[in-house]
Amino acid sequence: MTTETTRPRVALATCSVLPHLDPDDAPLIGALAERGVDAEPAVWDDESVDWSGFDAVVLRSTWDYSARRDDFVAWAARVPHLLNPEPVVRWNTDKGYLRELDAHGVPVIPTLWLDPERNLSSRAIHTRLPAQGDFVIKPVVSAGANDTGRYQSGEAYSRGLAIQHAKALLVSGRQVMVQPYIRSVDTAGETCIVFIDGEFSHALRKNALLTGPHRPTQGLYKQEEMRRHEATEAEIDVARRALEVAAKAVPGDGPYLYARVDLVVGDNDVPTVIELELTEPSLFFGFAPGALDRFADAVAARVTPAG
Ligand SMILES: Nc1ncnc2c1ncn2[C@@H]1O[C@H](COP(=O)(O)OP(=O)(O)O)[C@@H](O)[C@H]1O
Ligand SMILES: [Mg+2]
Repeated sequence: MTTETTRPRVALATCSVLPHLDPDDAPLIGALAERGVDAEPAVWDDESVDWSGFDAVVLRSTWDYSARRDDFVAWAARVPHLLNPEPVVRWNTDKGYLRELDAHGVPVIPTLWLDPERNLSSRAIHTRLPAQGDFVIKPVVSAGANDTGRYQSGEAYSRGLAIQHAKALLVSGRQVMVQPYIRSVDTAGETCIVFIDGEFSHALRKNALLTGPHRPTQGLYKQEEMRRHEATEAEIDVARRALEVAAKAVPGDGPYLYARVDLVVGDNDVPTVIELELTEPSLFFGFAPGALDRFADAVAARVTPAG
């Protein structure tokens, strides 16, 4: 017998468009091999995969689930040893969690929620849209800025497009969020705070993604332009508080393997949560020396018996 057969096996869950993983995640396979762990990509909705054959399944590039979130959550519930686990996925794939963050005093972008069950008329949607400034329409379940559009409240044509966009989402049974467009996204950008195994690891800046109304042919995600960022204490503090609320809502055995908190600059320069990513965030290992090793260590520690 060789020791080969006893090496832990890990699946890195991805989508069919990226069967070999996102290029940022691909080096994980080598980093895990160095730690005695056999890792391989596996497509989440490929029915031929035997998920029970893995010691852990790590969610990575599963970016095509937003139109079928229920299937995705049901799949997550069937996978033994999923990281992050299914209760976290269920809670985090619906941006309704922003209400919980808000209730616990974590700054979030002010949001109006439109419910498909209410069968709102165009007129009723119109009266709910902001009277001033640019605003954003997006579904509560989304990834990669898909189905997200930016509109001008004062321009009738743009307002009309916003109403059409909201209606199309509502008619397909999706709950809709209306938010003021946060201007600092155009100048400062968006900050991503990455945690690995509960510890702050690194931070990035992302440029603005929304230039105008929603257009249907956007592909899997909008192209992001990233750069390394030195996080401020205030940013890390808000991010930690957001994670504390999550940990209370969906407690795990220990810290989450990974977490990313996306922040914008809100009123009075307060770091404000736009999104908490506990499901399938890009972690941008390539921008932060040591981050890939920290992640691989954390995965290996979860599948290698202690001692
Ligand atoms: N209220 C907002 N103000 C400014 N930009 C926004 C706002 N909401 C969304 N965006 C832009 O759209 C992108 C996607 O929105 P986000 O809430 O992060 O959803 P997801 O990444 O899950 O699709 C953000 O990265 C940001 O560029
Ligand atoms: Mg986002």
